[in-house]
Amino acid sequence: MGRTRIALIGPGAIGATVAAWLAQSPGLALTLCARTPLDRLEIETPGGRIGAKPEILTDPAEARQVDWVLVCTKAYDVAGAAAWLDGLLGPETRVAVLQNGVEHVARFAPYVPVERIVPAVVDISAERAAPGRVLQRMNGTILVPAGADGDAFVALFAHTPIGARTTGDFTTALFRKLTVNCAGGVCGIVDKPNGIARDPAIAEVMLALAGECVAVGRAEGARLDDDLAASVVRGYQTTAPDSINSLHADRRAGRPMEIDARHGIIVRLGEKHGIPTPMNRLAVTLLAAIQ
Ligand SMILES: NC(=O)c1ccc[n+]([C@@H]2O[C@H](COP(=O)([O-])OP(=O)(O)OC[C@H]3O[C@@H](n4cnc5c(N)ncnc54)[C@H](OP(=O)(O)O)[C@@H]3O)[C@@H](O)[C@H]2O)c1
Repeated sequence: MGRTRIALIGPGAIGATVAAWLAQSPGLALTLCARTPLDRLEIETPGGRIGAKPEILTDPAEARQVDWVLVCTKAYDVAGAAAWLDGLLGPETRVAVLQNGVEHVARFAPYVPVERIVPAVVDISAERAAPGRVLQRMNGTILVPAGADGDAFVALFAHTPIGARTTGDFTTALFRKLTVNCAGGVCGIVDKPNGIARDPAIAEVMLALAGECVAVGRAEGARLDDDLAASVVRGYQTTAPDSINSLHADRRAGRPMEIDARHGIIVRLGEKHGIPTPMNRLAVTLLAAIQ
């Protein structure tokens, strides 16, 4: 059997990290689909520096069919990512979506048969320094739904320290992560790294944002512990104080922020279920004004 062909669209913080690890793995042939040209990958991982020089494309017209597509663009860059899919998709290609938010499948349903979309919850902390250069702060995990496609996705990561796993309760995984993300919106608003959570007044704001997410998540069928919002805030208080979440990184770099995927969705689901979400609505307003 030939090597498994993987195309990764969007080699940014998460994409470059995942790509560099997959490039170390035997049996995988990796192609990067990039918007901004880069020459190679260099990742400062928790275990030391790793590098890779996979094939790199910058023109969707050069894309050829692969077994797996891993989409690692921001949630708002779906249309740009989709431009690569015409060339990359064969009749059996599976498309894993490694993004935040809870609408992975809906975002790509216009472009890919839904049964071939594998949504993924990424819990890896990574910050990009330059094209292809990333600081990976923890090995982290990637969760995908249980099933044959989930198992095949997990197998891609067998030779990496990234904890790829399947879960029988993906809805809960999605909303746990959204709870973390929405609390971190404060960092983007006040333009301060995660250590700002040690300020008790900021911690209260984070707790309120997270609490709204827990309420809408439960209404959507997620099984979320009573303690989740508080434990998310404790997580921010104990993480590296200078670490920066990806929404905040976008603000600092002058890029659009994932306002809708992280806060707007909570407001929309709140409206659907009749649950008030004033804090996330405020976050949407403030972040939109900053942007
Ligand atoms: N960073 C984290 O710690 C983290 C953790 C968990 C989950 N996430 C989620 O993972 C997703 C990716 O986040 P990230 O932090 O890795 O974002 P990022 O650093 O901004 O990377 C996104 C990459 O996509 C590229 N891109 C955009 N449009 C493209 C196109 N049309 N074709 C090819 N590449 C394109 C960007 O290119 P340019 O270089 O031209 O901008 C960039 O390299 C987001 O949904 C985020 O919320 C991030």
